[in-house]
Amino acid sequence: MKCGYTRFDMPPDLHALRADLLGWFDLHARELPWRVVNEHGLRDPYRVWISEVLLQQTQVARGLLYFERFLTAFPDVQALAAATTEAVLKAWEGCGYYARARNLHAAAQIVAQTGFPTSYDGWLALSGVGPYTAAAISSLAFGEARAVNDGNVRRVLARVYAEVQPGPAWVQTQADQLLDPQRPGDWNEAVMDLGATICTPKSPNCGACPVSGHCQAYQSGNPGAYPAPKVRPTVRQVQAVALLIGDAHSAYLEQRRGSLLGGLYGLPVEEVDGTVQLALGRLTKRLGAHSPKLLGTVTHQMTHRHLTLHVYAAHSELAPQDVSRRPLSRLDHKALALLSGPGQLFETA
Ligand code: ADE
Repeated sequence: MKCGYTRFDMPPDLHALRADLLGWFDLHARELPWRVVNEHGLRDPYRVWISEVLLQQTQVARGLLYFERFLTAFPDVQALAAATTEAVLKAWEGCGYYARARNLHAAAQIVAQTGFPTSYDGWLALSGVGPYTAAAISSLAFGEARAVNDGNVRRVLARVYAEVQPGPAWVQTQADQLLDPQRPGDWNEAVMDLGATICTPKSPNCGACPVSGHCQAYQSGNPGAYPAPKVRPTVRQVQAVALLIGDAHSAYLEQRRGSLLGGLYGLPVEEVDGTVQLALGRLTKRLGAHSPKLLGTVTHQMTHRHLTLHVYAAHSELAPQDVSRRPLSRLDHKALALLSGPGQLFETA
């Protein structure tokens, strides 16, 4: 923790900093589909809500594709509320964190009855809406003075104040103080845009930064040193085998259970607990399958686990299903792509 002010370390002039950042945002704001306003200058809270849930786990470039796909499937909250869970998961395919889709669906069923909440507290009461999402929606769609606090905000504020170890409470305090109460939604998105395009993690482009004159990290001469890199959680290596019975379009699928992938479908899998051959033996026996042949190996990185999946083609009497109609995880799409080539939204890395 930093204590006291050093030579280059003066508290920023809030009014000048706000004016500089908002002036830049007025000229350079990214044009994004959830930022569209109607003739009254208001945003559609549904679009803001969907985008904010999506963008918690996805970069904007990829989020744009997912957003369009989701909005095409469910153009408004009534359509989302009326959908089946399986259809919602299908539209969420590849986005990960499928509990978010399930929560969104449950919350849409309430909102379709009661109307959109118009305040931070109202949004916070909905399933799956935490302080970040409630602050984002209430400020962007309803003009409530709530500061968002995410990774971009943390990095920008750490640099403005030259704070090496910004904890969540510190970030929220600074974000609340800096927030422009006249233009809270614009302020929040200005910080997001600055963090995404100029005040980037590795090589900040301070030459183009509208607030470098207020930035203590810039004045220190080493802005990239703020904040210090986070200690990454230890990642467990997990191996599993999967059987592809059928082909990439028509395969035997099982429905997943549990909080992570519950409700999705996927190839039958067995975790390796010993050797790959033993796991393969258990899986073929359970499915009455024979003649397994290795198709290849795919990997998938999650927050706490790195999964290696050995995918085998095999034969069995089990009935295949139309793969395109079922919601599948990104890992399963990678496994199927061993036969068919990668799909549009799924990389094979
Ligand atoms: N990331 C999260 N919310 C965003 C928004 N509204 N605009 C751009 N990037 C975002």
